[in-house]
Amino acid sequence: RPVLAVASEVYPLIKTGGLADVAGALPAALAAEGWDTRTLLPGYPAVLRKLQDTATEVVWETPDLFGGPARLLAAEMAGLRLLVIEAPHLYDRAGGPYAGPDGDWGDNAQRFAALARVAERIGRGALPNWAPEVVHGHDWQAGLMPAYLHYGEGRRPGTVMTIHNLAFQGQFPPSLLSELELPPQAWSVEGVEYYGSLGFLKAGLQLADRVTTVSPSYAAEICTPEGGMGMDGLLRRRGAALEGILNGIDTAVWNPANDPHLPVPFDADRIGARGENKVALQSRLGLRPQNGAPVVGIVSRLTWQKGMDLVLEALPRFVAHGMQLAVLGAGDRGLEEGFQAAARQFPGQVGLFLGYDEGLAHLVQGGSDALIVPSRFEPCGLTQLCAQRYGAVPIVSRVGGLADTVVDANEIALSSSAATGVVFAPTTRAALEAAIDRLARLWDDRQAWAQTQRNGMTASLGWERPARRYAALYRAIAA
Ligand code: ADP
Ligand code: GLC
Repeated sequence: RPVLAVASEVYPLIKTGGLADVAGALPAALAAEGWDTRTLLPGYPAVLRKLQDTATEVVWETPDLFGGPARLLAAEMAGLRLLVIEAPHLYDRAGGPYAGPDGDWGDNAQRFAALARVAERIGRGALPNWAPEVVHGHDWQAGLMPAYLHYGEGRRPGTVMTIHNLAFQGQFPPSLLSELELPPQAWSVEGVEYYGSLGFLKAGLQLADRVTTVSPSYAAEICTPEGGMGMDGLLRRRGAALEGILNGIDTAVWNPANDPHLPVPFDADRIGARGENKVALQSRLGLRPQNGAPVVGIVSRLTWQKGMDLVLEALPRFVAHGMQLAVLGAGDRGLEEGFQAAARQFPGQVGLFLGYDEGLAHLVQGGSDALIVPSRFEPCGLTQLCAQRYGAVPIVSRVGGLADTVVDANEIALSSSAATGVVFAPTTRAALEAAIDRLARLWDDRQAWAQTQRNGMTASLGWERPARRYAALYRAIAA
């Protein structure tokens, strides 16, 4: 059965975070459930470049998509059936998907309204031989899709919105209402209005048939004033229309037994082979060769959400235990500088690569002994899942999807072979330091450590289970 996915990033075409991983991996798992996904995304230059050597077909076009002509290109790549919006006036520019050198693109409202508008056209049946029974939008960039389908006329497929991060809401001036081709009646609390702004995500959460987010705990957190970021009232009112479906990881992309980025492949029965990857990681990041204490990895956006400031504050504690830090990340200027200073202060003990590097992300997962994710909030988090699959013991804060995916190595969990990592709360320096002490004790108990690694490596972390839940949801709302 046909479903249209609508996302602003899709791995391996364009990625800034976990949303791309999800949009890239879910279709294959849904296929096993009988759902045929086509994925709609903007034709940024990086995307069109990736399609250069692939056959594309123009399946739809319009002389005016918010200020210029647009064509819809169909292509197949990496097992995905893509629908790419080629609209040079909106997407043909050097920079990232959301921002250029001077910050967010000034016309993001038009750029992502266009994504939603084209999704609506496809939902209405604009393509020759294919019309979706369900349209599934991701994050604020797709938020207007349910609004266009709600207010317009014609065929109306079922609609789902998935929240990957409530911190990004897409709010714009109300004066854009008519330019974005929304009718006057859309301007209400039952529609797109959000505290005086035109809210893209708000519109989607209000008007979609169903709303999901990427873990059960985050689904509960966002219904509270503390975690709801202004949306909790609306989300509480949606009641049973909101559910948490845990993310999986792509176990073909993240497979330590067959990973081109690892010098030595390994699996749960050959955990010892990780040692050589650790040596390679240490040498790559300028860490002193040593094996008496764990290398603790970080693969993260360097932001407040991710608690990276706490890692800097707790640095002396890592060092006191003889631990090394292997840091791969990019983000806020102040945090980048903080990690640079840390690498200068503790040469050989803090290794750093500032930037985005997929291969290195695999090596950090396969060569570190532990991986730390001390988020203040985390809708799901994927790196702690990859870490478990790669035998790096995760240390995580007990929030959102982190709480749902890591089993704390307490006495009972250890004695019943269930432990997969170290979980701490609250997200503070003191609690993080206590968790580092616990990690050190776990490391010293070699048998408990190996068992914890093994439990993570043999857990099922793929998309099969979540895909079944999405499929059930689609069936419930299909047009
Ligand atoms: P978020 O989407 O909030 O950033 P997730 O844990 O869901 O967090 O997803 C992050 C994804 O981005 C993972 O696939 C991770 O491996 C990847 N990633 C994050 N930072 C980097 C980096 N500097 N280089 C390479 N990959 C990165
Ligand atoms: C967001 C969240 C992250 C989640 C990802 C994929 O970027 O911050 O927790 O794993 O989306 O759903």
